[in-house]
Amino acid sequence: MLDRPRRLRRTPALRALTREVSLSPAHFIYPIFVHELPDEAPISSMPGISRHSITGAVEQARSALQLGIPSVILFGIPDHKDALGSGAYAEDGVIQRATRAIKAALPGLTVIADTCLCEYTDHGHCGPLCGVPGQSGAEAWTVDNDRSLELLALTAVSQARAGADVIAPSAMMDGQVGAIRAALDAADFTHVPVMSYAVKYASAYYGPFRDAAGSTPSVGNRATYQMDPAGGHREALREARLDAEQGADTLMVKPALAYLDVLRVLRDHFDLPLVAYNVSGEYALVKAAAQLGFMDERRTVLENLTGMRRAGADAIITYHALDAARWLQEDV
Ligand code: PBG
Ligand code: ZN
Repeated sequence: MLDRPRRLRRTPALRALTREVSLSPAHFIYPIFVHELPDEAPISSMPGISRHSITGAVEQARSALQLGIPSVILFGIPDHKDALGSGAYAEDGVIQRATRAIKAALPGLTVIADTCLCEYTDHGHCGPLCGVPGQSGAEAWTVDNDRSLELLALTAVSQARAGADVIAPSAMMDGQVGAIRAALDAADFTHVPVMSYAVKYASAYYGPFRDAAGSTPSVGNRATYQMDPAGGHREALREARLDAEQGADTLMVKPALAYLDVLRVLRDHFDLPLVAYNVSGEYALVKAAAQLGFMDERRTVLENLTGMRRAGADAIITYHALDAARWLQEDV
């Protein structure tokens, strides 16, 4: 037989030599939840992940850096929430304070600020609400797109002023990348990139995150702004194109595992770097199955992350980052 693929699978060295896809801590972005309380608060649906005080967040960031993970993304959980999400753009807001503390302690670490209002609004939506003229019942109100743009722009500038290296808008408001780019430029932050959550689906996989952040909408859901999971590649390309035209520096697909085809389509149609967001529910599934003894956690996680890289992700936001970085170190 001339063609025997097994010849190149005979030894670990031969397999390593012919492997096409690489996975390293350099690709990881570690998410950190920061609250305004002094103690660590574990998140029950995300074993191994907690809400941290600002001091605790610095320690988490230090662990990431020591493991070769170059960046963290911060999510803030404020003490006080209101209709306009004012904690998101407060100069002494939780993200702003955490960013200053992390950059002071670890100047070489890249701090990415998640830019959204849902953790800061009392109703849990990603922007302020407004009425829809002529409509009644559940359709009589919606999230006010253009007012949200103003508040997201304020948030981004205050995060940049606090020292954030990258701004990551996740609200799925139309025009958010352009509004943020213009505001950053006007405030002299032309050097700060926008990591757009360009293709973000309305997903059940965000459940554990919303428990963690207390950001489950109190009325309605996010289907009027996040994408329909049954939308096709055309819609994904459109969202990505709009963000690229508005100056996005990188594109993202979120969640990752059920949307690897979308990741590949963006990879093939754009020349911007691509980020995959391995979300809270994807983390929870693996942790739960591992705790039940149904799956080998290490092998499952590394296989999932490798799949995201193979689909076209340059970087991966993942709650598994610290564990995966340790496992990858053990492998050498
Ligand atoms: C905020 C935001 C969410 C996530 C990241 N940024 C929640 C949401 O859209 O409801 C989800 C992350 C995760 O599930 O890990 N807009
Ligand atoms: Zn949001």
